[in-house]
Amino acid sequence: MFTEAQLYSPVTKSADGDVTVHLSDEHPGVHDPDYRARRNAIAAQALTYRPGQPVPRIDYTGEEQEVWRIVSAELARKRERYACAEVIEAARRLELPSDHIPQLDEVSSRLAPLTGFRYVPAAGLVPLREFFGSFEDRIFHSTQYIRHHSAPLYTPEPDAVHEILGHANQLASPRFAALYATAGAAVARLTTEPALKFLADVFWFSMEFGVLREKGEIRCYGAGLLSSYGEIEEFREAELRPLSIREMGTRAYDITHYQPVLYCAKSIDEIEDVVGGFFATVDDDTVTKLAAAEVAGAQPA
Ligand SMILES: [Fe+2]
Repeated sequence: MFTEAQLYSPVTKSADGDVTVHLSDEHPGVHDPDYRARRNAIAAQALTYRPGQPVPRIDYTGEEQEVWRIVSAELARKRERYACAEVIEAARRLELPSDHIPQLDEVSSRLAPLTGFRYVPAAGLVPLREFFGSFEDRIFHSTQYIRHHSAPLYTPEPDAVHEILGHANQLASPRFAALYATAGAAVARLTTEPALKFLADVFWFSMEFGVLREKGEIRCYGAGLLSSYGEIEEFREAELRPLSIREMGTRAYDITHYQPVLYCAKSIDEIEDVVGGFFATVDDDTVTKLAAAEVAGAQPA
């Protein structure tokens, strides 16, 4: 079963204040001492952030800016071909820069007038309750580091490309932003960890990896697909299933591979009805019942 901690590189702080990002052995930057030092410095800056203060600025290097320019141009082309009209429209209104990595304050100043969402820094994993709960206040916790320059079109963890080109382009749509806010408001009603995890998994199969039918084609709206150079093209190969909250909340998934099963909505209206309706009403009890029904349904008669 997926745990968020597998996705983010763990960040630790020693007794004398040294911040270390622990990259996995497979990470493209793991053998590059300069990249590792850079990651530690960016995480250390994010850890100094306190709400209400200005977001620490990252002085991105020329190499990092070049990674952004490459990925930004590639994803813009693919977005036109594979994203749903709502996201394409939202990205046009947001007009993120393609020539430099925007500081989080720049993202907020473009996004807030459209949907009220603001970006705050995250060194790495943010606990689920805080990450999802802050959506109610239209706050998005975002990492600031960027993938290693040796593999500009690949990242094993959510970097600025995912957070900004994936989530911000989606959050520039008032309809999708409202879904985030509704999910955020649900967090206060969920007191158990399994219930919170269920909500996170429904979110994963909708706002991260959701697709929908549009004019006879399958188009994506999930931030994970929108920010993935490879998967944005491959998702049409996935097994597509109709929206099912019960399945989405209980399905095991492997974040290290392309998703073999995706949930396909008939329209944004249907996402709002089914996924939005779930976010608006879910509580601990709902989750217990849905999880029990899934177990019962999976057992042989
Ligand atoms: Fe994400």
